[in-house]
Amino acid sequence: MNSLQESFILHNGIKIPCVGFGTYLSAAGGETERAVAEALKVGYRHIDTAAFYKNESDVGNAVKKSGIAREEIFVTTKCWNADRGYENAKAACEKSLLTLGLSYIDLYLIHWPANEKQFGERAEEINAETWRAFEELCAEGKIRAAGVSNFLPHHLEMLKKTAKFMPAVDQIEARPGFWQEETLDYCRAHSILVEAWSPLGRGASLALPAIGTLAEKYGKSPAQIILRRMLQRGILPLPKSVTPARIAENADLFDFTLSDADCAAIDALRAPAGKNPDEIDF
Ligand SMILES: NC(=O)c1ccc[n+]([C@@H]2O[C@H](COP(=O)([O-])OP(=O)(O)OC[C@H]3O[C@@H](n4cnc5c(N)ncnc54)[C@H](OP(=O)(O)O)[C@@H]3O)[C@@H](O)[C@H]2O)c1
Repeated sequence: MNSLQESFILHNGIKIPCVGFGTYLSAAGGETERAVAEALKVGYRHIDTAAFYKNESDVGNAVKKSGIAREEIFVTTKCWNADRGYENAKAACEKSLLTLGLSYIDLYLIHWPANEKQFGERAEEINAETWRAFEELCAEGKIRAAGVSNFLPHHLEMLKKTAKFMPAVDQIEARPGFWQEETLDYCRAHSILVEAWSPLGRGASLALPAIGTLAEKYGKSPAQIILRRMLQRGILPLPKSVTPARIAENADLFDFTLSDADCAAIDALRAPAGKNPDEIDF
């Protein structure tokens, strides 16, 4: 990858710009619109939002006002947990389209799998029914690609039993010290692109001493070291910031390459685990 506008290619042939701009905890009513506008100015062409973030209209406004052709910007949004199931998921997609003010969504994700803790034996059927809606949304052209988020290999294996096609993307929590290797392996084997949420550990990963040492060695920032490592691993990072200098910093990843030894050192770091999708109760 040599620039923000270079893409990974999803298994359905759709191109997805290699760094996504995160918007979780970006406030609606101006802050998100300003941040997304800044990101588009800097050169990001991929924006990640969700119905749950309550800022889809800001994202849509920034996209429309940018003057950049719609087809040059990749917009992801997500179906929230309250909207699982066939009918609900279809209605949720219509609502997101309306709130975004867009005629199609580039990538639509099931935000979290229904788990057995909350739904017992029905979890598998709920996920299958949500996915059936996603497949239809693709066929109808309302979404260009369908994917999931926070799905572990066993959730994907369950989906596989009834899916006409597998998700193009799995967006998971990933950062140095918490890579979720089993999910990475499963996704690689099934041509599912992995996106990393909280790639910077919401800022905490930037303070890892080994990351600081590498930042000095390469003359880059800790955030740039982490994001570059993800790109070199074939993982699409989704850094979020509302701060113009950081928005630019997180995009400046293309003038250096981490050595194999330094990549291995980053991958060997240990940090506290993140959320377990089988344990969530929201
Ligand atoms: N699918 C899911 O379940 C899920 C869950 C969580 C997140 N996500 C997606 O993934 C995106 C990223 O995750 P995230 O927002 O949780 O965390 P993140 O991107 O790891 O971290 C964002 C935090 O780091 C700060 N930051 C950003 N760049 C920095 C830099 N260069 N130097 C120092 N601090 C920096 C930001 O501050 P400022 O904004 O104040 O600059 C913000 O507080 C989200 O925005 C969302 O789009 C998805």
